[in-house]
Formats: sequence, C-alpha cells, structure tokens
Amino acid sequence: MLLPGMSVTAPLVGDEQTAAVDHALEHTDGMLVSVPHIDGAFTPLGVVATITGQIALPDGSRGVSIEALHRAELGQATERGDTLVVPVTPILDPDDVSERAHELAAEYRAVVGEVAATRGDGGRVSAFLRAIDHPGRLADTVGYAPEVDATRKAGVLAAVDIEARLEAAIAAQRERLAELHLRKRIREDVSENLERTQKEAILRRQMDAIRKELDETNDESADDWRRRIAESGMPEAARKEADRELARLERMGDGAEAGMIRTYLEWMVSLPWDKRSDDTLDVAEARTVLDADHTGLEKVKERILEYLAVRRLRRDRDMGDASTGVILALVGPPGVGKTSLGESVARATGREFVRISLGGIRDEAEIRGHRRTYVGALPGRFVRALRDAGTRNPVVLLDELDKVGSDWRGDPSSALLEVLDPAQNHTFRDHYLDVDLDLSEVLFIATANMVDTIPAPLLDRMEIIQLDGYTEDEKRAIATDHLVPRQIERNGLREGEVTLTADAIRAIIGDYTREAGVRTLERELGKVIRKAATRVAEGATDPITIDAGDLVPALGRPKVHHEAAERTATPGVATGLAVTGTGGDVLFVEASEMPKDGGDGLVLTGQLGDVMRESARIALSWMRGHAGELGIADDRLTDRSVHVHVPAGAIPKDGPSAGVTMVTALASLYSGRAVKPSVGMTGEVTLQGRVLPIGGVKQKLLAAHRAGLTEVIIPERNRGDLDDVPADVLKDLTVHPVLTVGEVLDLALEPACSRRDALASA
Ligand SMILES: Nc1ncnc2c1ncn2[C@@H]1O[C@H](COP(=O)(O)OP(=O)(O)OP(=O)(O)O)[C@@H](O)[C@H]1O
Ligand SMILES: [Mg+2]
Repeated sequence: MLLPGMSVTAPLVGDEQTAAVDHALEHTDGMLVSVPHIDGAFTPLGVVATITGQIALPDGSRGVSIEALHRAELGQATERGDTLVVPVTPILDPDDVSERAHELAAEYRAVVGEVAATRGDGGRVSAFLRAIDHPGRLADTVGYAPEVDATRKAGVLAAVDIEARLEAAIAAQRERLAELHLRKRIREDVSENLERTQKEAILRRQMDAIRKELDETNDESADDWRRRIAESGMPEAARKEADRELARLERMGDGAEAGMIRTYLEWMVSLPWDKRSDDTLDVAEARTVLDADHTGLEKVKERILEYLAVRRLRRDRDMGDASTGVILALVGPPGVGKTSLGESVARATGREFVRISLGGIRDEAEIRGHRRTYVGALPGRFVRALRDAGTRNPVVLLDELDKVGSDWRGDPSSALLEVLDPAQNHTFRDHYLDVDLDLSEVLFIATANMVDTIPAPLLDRMEIIQLDGYTEDEKRAIATDHLVPRQIERNGLREGEVTLTADAIRAIIGDYTREAGVRTLERELGKVIRKAATRVAEGATDPITIDAGDLVPALGRPKVHHEAAERTATPGVATGLAVTGTGGDVLFVEASEMPKDGGDGLVLTGQLGDVMRESARIALSWMRGHAGELGIADDRLTDRSVHVHVPAGAIPKDGPSAGVTMVTALASLYSGRAVKPSVGMTGEVTLQGRVLPIGGVKQKLLAAHRAGLTEVIIPERNRGDLDDVPADVLKDLTVHPVLTVGEVLDLALEPACSRRDALASA
C-alpha cells in the first residue's frame, strides 16, 4: 500500500507485477500508477510512482525500489486490443493549507509520538516526522505504520482534502495507540500476576523456615539439651565443654551461630560415650564364626584367633590395656576377603562394625576434623565412625591403609599414627569436638593391597597377616560354599532351582578369571546365575543345571588364554614372575638389538622404577662379562645398542626380582635360543651372577600356576618359602631353586637348535 511520499523497496510478486514493472521500465521511463485493491475492488484514487532502482534479492527473485510521488484520479477504462487503458489525472496537494490543518498536524505528531514512545522508539520517529513540514505529506506517512490496516490506509489515500486526510490518519493512529496500550496492560497484568505468585512463594518459604526454627527451639529447649547431655554419659571434661556451649546458645537466641552450636551439641550427645557391646572374646565361638564365614584361610584365621586370645587374657588378668598395642593388618591382593574378614571379626567378637575407607585421603582434617571456626566444619572420620557404630568398642576397619596420601593439606598418616597408638589414643582430640575422646577400646583392623606404600611408622605398629590369593581348588571350594549360594539368593532364586556343576565352576575359574582373589569369579558366577534367573522368571519350572558347556551364552568366549608360549616364540623374550598390587602375575621382559644410538647402549622402557632399571644394567654388564662363555661375539654387545622393554607399559613396575628374567631375555636375544615357554622365573642378580632371594614366592607361584606354566626358577635361599605354597599348586609345578645365573640359563633356554629352527626343519 503506497501512499505519496513513501519510498519502499519490495519484491515483485506474481507475473502481473513483473509485467507491469517491465512495461514501465520499457515504455514510461519507470513511471507507473499504483492502485490499491481493497475488498475486491480498486480504489478510485491511485498513486503515481517512479521506479528508482532494481535489486536482486537474496532468494533470487527481483525487487524494485519505488518512490511514490502524488495522488492521481483514475478515469474510465477502455479496451484497446488486449490492453486495458486507464487515463489518470494527477492530484497535487496545495502548498497553502488551513490553520486547522496545522493544528491537526500537531495533533497527529503528538499521537504518533505517543505510539512511538509506547513501542520504545520515540526519538527516531519524532525526528523523522519533524523533517516533514507539509501537513498533507505528514498524514500520508501513516503508510509506513505497520499496525495500521490497509483499509485505514486506503481511507487516508482517498482523502484529497488535507484536513479530512489528517483526521483519518489521526483516527488510524489513535486506534493503534489504544491497541498498544491494551497490549501493554495485558502484558503487565500477566507479569504482575506472576510476580505476585513468586513473591507469595518466597514469603511462604521464609515463613516455613521461621516456623521450623521456632519449633526447633521449642522442642529442644535448654532443658532438653541439659537432659540429653546428662543422659549421654559424657566424661567430666566433655560435659564442661557442652555446658559452656549450651550457655552460649541460651545467651545468643537465634541465628546462624546458634545453628552451629546446636549442630555441635547434637554431635556431642550422639557419641557413644559410655555405651559398649559385651565383648565376648570367646575364642571357641570366634573360631566357629570365622569358619562359617570363610572357607580355607586356616593360617589367617589362626593368627586372628591368637590375637583375640591375647586380648582376652590381658583383659581377664587385668594387665592394663586389653590391646597389646599392635594393630592387625590384613594385606593381600583384591578380592581375597580382607574386608569381609574384618566384618567377620566383628561378628565373632560381638562388636559393632564400621569401615573407614582411607583410600585417597590426603587431608589431615579428614582424620581429625575441622576446627569449629571453619565454615561447614565437620568432625573427622573416627568421630563419625564411632557415632555410626553407637558403641565405644566397635571393630573399626581401616580399609586401604596403603592408599593414604599426603600433601600440603597436612599428613593424614601422622594423625592416623596418633589414633592407632595405644599410648595416645585414649585422649584422641578431634579438632571439631575439641574434647578428649577415648579410642582405646576400639579394635582396629587395617587392610592393604601392599605393604610397600604404608608409611613406615604406621607399618611398625602393624601385625601383618598376609593373604596371598587362592589356588584353583580353594577357589572352587569358596565358590561352592559361599559365592554360588549367595548369588543364587541375591538373584531371587531358591536353593535347588539352579545347580552349577563342578566342571562349570572349574571352567569359570580357569577360562574366565585370572585373579588372585575371587571377586571376578563371584561376578561371573552372578552373570551365569542371572541368566538362569531369567529363565525361571519366564516360567521354567524344572531345576536348571549349568554345565561347562552352557557358559558361552552368559559369559561369551573364554577370556583367558595362556600367552607365554606365544610370547616366548621369538628369542629375546623371557617370562618373569612378579607381585603387583593385584597379586602375583606373570610379566614378560623383551629385549631387542639395534644399531648403536650413541648413548651407553641400553634403552629401557615400560615405566620401570630405579631398582628395576639398575637390574637391567646389572644384567647387561654380566652379559658383557660372560659373552664368550655363551658363544656370543663380543662386538655385538659393545658395538650395538639393546632395548629392554617390560610390557603393560602403563603399569609402573619396580623391584629387583626381575633380575634373572632380564639376564635370560638378553642371553636369549644374543644366543638366538628361545626361552622355554613353560618356564617362569624370579630372582635378584648380582654383578657376579649370583641369584639372591626375593619376596612374594607364594603369590608368584600361584600366578605361575594360573598362567599355566609348569616350571619355575626361584633363588635357592627362597626354598623355605615353598612350605607356604599349597600342595595342589606344587604338584603341578617343577620348582628349580638356583644359586647362579648360569643355572638359570641352562634351565630356561631351549637347546642351541631353537624351537623356530625345529619348526622350520619340521
Ligand atoms: N575364603 C573366603 N571364603 C568365603 N568368601 C570369600 C573368601 N575370600 C573372599 N571371599 C568373598 O569374596 C568377596 C571379596 O572379598 P573382599 O571384599 O573382602 O575382598 P578384599 O580383600 O577386601 O579386596 P580389596 O582389596 O579389593 O578390598 C567377598 O564377598 C568375600 O566374602
Ligand atoms: Mg576390601
């Protein structure tokens, strides 16, 4: 809808518009008449306009810029051929207009100003209007107003008389203003409503808080606190502190500080100051409980019983403290039952059980609590543990003692030391409570995967009980006695509904798990039993028997394969036995030759610790010294570099016990004789080629057995450790105790004609 004076750029819509514009450009120098089409009819007046430019619009269509000049009256249309010809008479506004027209123009400006202000763009619009001084032209600017409808605009166009035109334009703008006001009011109403509900919600919340606060102080009046403090059985000193805090609370009334005091008092009265379980310490009974909970572990149980017996004697004979000052520490790979033995001890002695997980603790405040001045202060783990136990003599399991860290936040292990020291722990002071707490009746048991990382002062106070992991037979017994029945129950089945054959259990142990403990075993058993549970839930009524052949659907293909044979097929790879945080394991040492790289001729990789790096150096030096005896040309050792790698490169490894394995790998590399696939070895080596004893023989032999090795080389001086190794493991292993590296090489290397040669010739 064009009105005179407007200048617009618009797309051409439809063929007719396009044809008209093209015609105008071609025949009339761009002049044309725009005639609005309202309510199905053309208006009697049109607007003479000129095309001032053409543009290509982004969507590819054409657009034209048009400037509307003045009104024109349309005459009678006549047909000439296929063209409709309409004569037009221009209508120009008079230069002089009436006084009233000027008044109306002012009114128009005022209304449009208000409209613009309501819409928020007042400044721009009034500047635009100020530039138009002819009242008639001013009225025609209504054409720019998007909210004024076309009929209204057509009315303005039709008004040749200036005053009438302004009146029409003012009416249109007033209507528009009213509409804007209405819209604004609606919007405000809505948001006011919203605000009111929000405000109400906030007030309500505050009221709730106040009410709660009032209730709280009502039902926990000072008298109540006094009663609870008296009933808690606190010792004198603690009571004084509690009373002092209570007095402060009374003085203070309400507030954040009062809340903190209340929390403190809550902690104080909830501690088991004088509550204890009857410590039965009946050794025979304890034995029954331990036996019922755990299969095997005879030596471990024996040690635990001795420990309990001593405590009992000391108590009965009134020899001061019941504790001897040592803490039992159960050390061993994951899943061998350390945590569950701790629980068992609690059951056996009739005490409460709480577990404090120390893994990853770096902050001393975790042990000892934060001072109360600290925002969000809390007591440390020991206070929390005592509160949870509800007695002053629980069994407290210090789980993962070897994983306590230390950094700038303080050293938790020194705080632990104080907790565990019988000379100090009857006056343990938690920073938060700030009163002495007696921990001397607590039976502490620690667990750890390795002793290496337990801080030495702590280790001093520990009586280490080593759990080395289980043999296949032991695992089978544990599975039958405990794991299978437990998984059957956990999966909602009843006894007799599912049976696992001995073969199935054996297959799960051998083909799907390779661990020292039984945790993965239990998980895999769970998977198998869940499958059966599904069948029962789906309506199977016959008892289900699971045999070795039925495992694949639940567990997939066997996960464990014996890789020693594969790995040692090429000369330069030897199978070692090691103890890691997860128990014993086999580890391969690989050596390979390369042109001299300018360094000292030895490259080491695989995250080796210092001691292990030294072992590699010693091994190479020994080789250099004994090349001749082994029939190796000297210059190969001196003119070329050797690279020693211990795979599973992401796992840090250390210790001297890989010494023999390194020598063997090197000797195999240089002699071209492969290492026998059935042989595993362990032992420290000296420069003279002597084999020195190492630790963890039992764990290493169990690992060799799991890995399917049949021959094991150990240091002669470890022969005594074989007594600890279960017979069913020893019966499958040939153990060679040795004194020198020479013996190792004789036992470990294939004869000069290597396996590969043999294969090749075969
Ligand atoms: N000799 C056993 N007899 C019966 N159940 C056992 C035996 N050994 C382990 N288990 C069971 O195996 C599971 C794993 O044991 P537990 O959680 O005590 O391992 P852990 O030694 O504490 O391991 P981690 O070092 O990972 O904490 C437990 O359910 C436990 O009851
Ligand atoms: Mg555990």
